[in-house]
Amino acid sequence: MRSEARALELRRLIEDANYRYYVRDDPAIPDVEYDRLLRELQDLEAVHPELLTSDSPTQRVGAGPLKDFAQVAHDVPMLSLNNAFSEGEVAAFDRRVREGLEREGPIEYAVEPKFDGLAITLRYEQGLFVRGATRGDGTSGEDVSANLRTIRAIPMRLAGENLPELLEVRGEVLMLRRDFDKLNQDARDKGEKTFVNPRNAAAGSLRQLDSRITAQRRLHFFSYGIGRVEGADLPATHAAAMDWLAELRLPVAQQRRVVVGVAGLMAYFNELGEQRPNLPFDIDGAVYKVNRSADQERLGFVSRAPRFAIAHKYPAQEELTVVEAIDVQVGRTGVLTPVARLKPVFVGGVTVTNATLHNEDEVRRKDVRVGDSVIVRRAGDVIPEVVGVVLERRPMKDLVTPLHEPFVMPTVCPECDAPVLRLEGESAVRCSNGLACPAQRKQAIIHFASRRAMDIEGLGDKLVEQLVDRGLVQTPADLYSLDLEPVAGLERMAQKSAENLLAGVKASRHKPLARFVFALGIRQVGEQTARDLARHFGKLDALMAAAAEALLLVPDVGPVVAASIAAFFRESHNLAVIEALRQAQAWVDGEALPVSPGRFAGKIFVLTGTLPNLTRDQARARIEAEGGKVAGSVSGKTDYVVAGVEPGSKLVKAEQLSIEILDEAAFLHLFEQGE
Ligand code: IVH
Repeated sequence: MRSEARALELRRLIEDANYRYYVRDDPAIPDVEYDRLLRELQDLEAVHPELLTSDSPTQRVGAGPLKDFAQVAHDVPMLSLNNAFSEGEVAAFDRRVREGLEREGPIEYAVEPKFDGLAITLRYEQGLFVRGATRGDGTSGEDVSANLRTIRAIPMRLAGENLPELLEVRGEVLMLRRDFDKLNQDARDKGEKTFVNPRNAAAGSLRQLDSRITAQRRLHFFSYGIGRVEGADLPATHAAAMDWLAELRLPVAQQRRVVVGVAGLMAYFNELGEQRPNLPFDIDGAVYKVNRSADQERLGFVSRAPRFAIAHKYPAQEELTVVEAIDVQVGRTGVLTPVARLKPVFVGGVTVTNATLHNEDEVRRKDVRVGDSVIVRRAGDVIPEVVGVVLERRPMKDLVTPLHEPFVMPTVCPECDAPVLRLEGESAVRCSNGLACPAQRKQAIIHFASRRAMDIEGLGDKLVEQLVDRGLVQTPADLYSLDLEPVAGLERMAQKSAENLLAGVKASRHKPLARFVFALGIRQVGEQTARDLARHFGKLDALMAAAAEALLLVPDVGPVVAASIAAFFRESHNLAVIEALRQAQAWVDGEALPVSPGRFAGKIFVLTGTLPNLTRDQARARIEAEGGKVAGSVSGKTDYVVAGVEPGSKLVKAEQLSIEILDEAAFLHLFEQGE
């Protein structure tokens, strides 16, 4: 009898821990304690098999392989949603709803993310999980109960009293991005095949005949509806139904809301779109549902989709296209980057024709070949990348399209034929020719002239190419001694445009030291570091003379950056260019600022996201005026992170490192104290 009571208690403790960890995302006990409890229950059940129940958490580890999945007929069909891709289509949906309900005033909608996973139905009888199935063709699906039992976010027993006799919960199985990243990393380490996205990983995992494999895959679940209920009243609104499911301890999206009218729908769509990159899971849109259950019933269905709901989709972030060639580009620092030339494809809101393949290891790992069908991803403003090859579509050997060979990185620079070097511990290879390589020279000049560096008006990429190819310019210093005539003779140039260029070069002179240091294109020295260096040393000569140890005194400069700066100023070629730029008066030295004795002297701030009132420059000015410093990334040295809207990964990092996080109000308060 005592064993039975203990088994009950253990089951409750373990399921509570599962709920806190997987549903609430707020762990209550350490992992070791969880493991101890689980082991104790397993031992107890081994000694007393009569105590084993189907809802026992020990059953979540998976069972032996099935021969195939049984078919399950859905009592209530699992339908799909119609899609909207524009505000106009959303407005048309709202109009149809109002007409259908014969209502003048605005409609209340329950809104939630459209999860990018797989539809599932879960059946609970007297609160006990009895079966779960995939959507299949909507009328019948596959019984994947054994696999669903391994998903710890899915309760095996619903919480609370007065449970319905029967409850069918509809929702989506998906894989969280962090679990997906880990799964792929493990696969990569073992040299196994990786999944192209969390959706495919979730689908592959859920359709395993051996649920022990599913158990290792860490799937997740969110409820978004009720298929059928008996022995309880269906709540009067969708929002209330979701709240009820949450009380039963079923996972529901935190991002759900109730809004009114088209304006409310659009505001939600935009808000969710902003959160999208930072959500722990992939979504492909928002779902809008007429909130009142009675209205839903009145509107009913057309063919296979409800009239009361619609999916408002974001532009696809992934698309399928074909690799037409793989080229190798040489960057400013000589790094060779393989680039896939693609059949043009509309993805993430723009037409994409190139996608980076990062480096040779990456191409090998993904085994991307010319002629392959590939999935291209463009999320937000990130450079498009090839996510993976659809091997099923690879052209076969000896057929019309021959199979292309695996990609190999050239051993000489494609621009200057100099040997390439692979740096120890890096996957990148680099042209060994430095600024003697025309590609690097061009990139160095393009960088030098760019808006945030010397800001030379009238000097675009194409013009730089011509200037270098014609031998008119070898280094940035040569820009200052260009003659009018040869420039006017270049393609698409004339007397007037040549005059403009020369005037642009002249006007760009006398730049502050920080910009000039950035313009030099020293490896590892971005805008912020350039600013720090200029501030610290005041004069270029002082910076050039600084040994690595002296450079380390500059905030945020570590050994790698210091070594790179020192090496740059040791090169005779660089010294000659700088001397010529000095003659041309490209920059003006300043006085090193004395370290301010302000209240935040030595304190390091990181700004992330958009602040409601202050611009970034204003926030920076306030910090610097008090002797504080603004760093570009969060590290152990950071004292405060000031977070606005859409804060991004810096906020996550700050939370991980337990760094004090300030919103704008708290930031202003901090600075106003004692003023
Ligand atoms: S409601 C009767 N809500 O989208 C309407 N579906 O195209 C049932 N989905 O197969 C669907 N997130 O797998 C609904 N918040 C959400 C959803 C959602 C994702 C999926 C679902 C369904 C498909 C419909």
